Amino acid sequence: MKNLIQERFAEQFGGTAAQYASAGRVNLIGEHVDFCGGFVFPGAIDCGVIAQVRPNGTDQVNAYSLHYDQLLSFGLEEEDLPHAHWARYLFGVCREMIKRGARIGGFDTVFDGNVPAGAGLSSSAALESTFAFALNDLFGCGFTKFDLALIGQATEHNYVGVKCGIMDQFASMFGRKDSLILLNCRTLEHKYYPFHPQGYRLVLLDTCVKHELASSAYNRRRASVEAAAEAIRKRHPEVEFLADAKRVWLEEVKDEISAEDFLRAQYILGEVQRVLDVCNALTRDDYGMVGELMYQTHFGLSRMYEVSCPELDFLATLARRMEVTGARMMGGGYGGCTINLVQEELYAPFVERAKKEFATAFGHEPKVYDVVISDGARKL
Ligand code: GLA
Repeated sequence: MKNLIQERFAEQFGGTAAQYASAGRVNLIGEHVDFCGGFVFPGAIDCGVIAQVRPNGTDQVNAYSLHYDQLLSFGLEEEDLPHAHWARYLFGVCREMIKRGARIGGFDTVFDGNVPAGAGLSSSAALESTFAFALNDLFGCGFTKFDLALIGQATEHNYVGVKCGIMDQFASMFGRKDSLILLNCRTLEHKYYPFHPQGYRLVLLDTCVKHELASSAYNRRRASVEAAAEAIRKRHPEVEFLADAKRVWLEEVKDEISAEDFLRAQYILGEVQRVLDVCNALTRDDYGMVGELMYQTHFGLSRMYEVSCPELDFLATLARRMEVTGARMMGGGYGGCTINLVQEELYAPFVERAKKEFATAFGHEPKVYDVVISDGARKL
């Protein structure tokens, strides 16, 4: 990827320039709790985005996406918002940096990525983090990595329309080889956990399903849990985020919120606790417990939070039947991957059977990705 980008850059703009990279992410547990003040457990992975970037002394951005084989130019004023979806991420990052006082000028760039599209591995966070990191470096903006992760998140909110939490951009910015990150999404305090489960493998099975409505459903879920938090706050003003609420407090407002919002909120409170339980289990190397909690997350996401789909349920249920240690859908939902914690000896039979039975049921095989926990944003 690096060489191809270099060649294209020379062809398109002449000469050479610095390259920057960032990564997609996985998440062991802690789904949809990042915007509720909970903890999450993500890590960056060995696929991501690489961009070659050079300031051009104008106020125009000239960006070439190798993936879309498309060159676009746009200015940096709010009204210059480009139409192409991919360009909005770059534009959004620039705008969010400018809004925070940075002096960003025009630049030329060629970039590409290898995060499988629509797999729920956060190709968008990889794109935002790569450019946020690169522009911060090239224009000497002086933002911290915390600022840069928040800039990526604000890009999603204000230029893409997804009211996401901070998990993806944080993992993509702060990821470290061989470590998962236990992240407190409220304070952004975090701790790296070396993750080498002896005798197990972490593997993703990609359903290759992507539902168009995922982002509007995502925003609706967020609105549901905020409605529940709001109702609880009236009685318990100390509840800033839903994660602050006790289960009994949610029960108290059961009749004041919709049955749907109640169910969504119940899932969230369960998940907030499960992340902490996984941390405890990991300190005892109790992978059986980690896996059990992963299944609970899956069935919570499927039956209470309702962001799964038949393909994801099929894979999680098959894993359960084959006594795989842990499995669950990962990320926003409505498609993408399951993450599986598989005993070494079960890996080959599980993957083989999952491919076969999934193909019989849905007409195509799932894709298989071995998880390699890697570094996040960096200059190459
Ligand atoms: C998406 C969002 C994240 C997070 C996950 C679900 O990936 O971008 O902020 O909410 O869904 O855990």
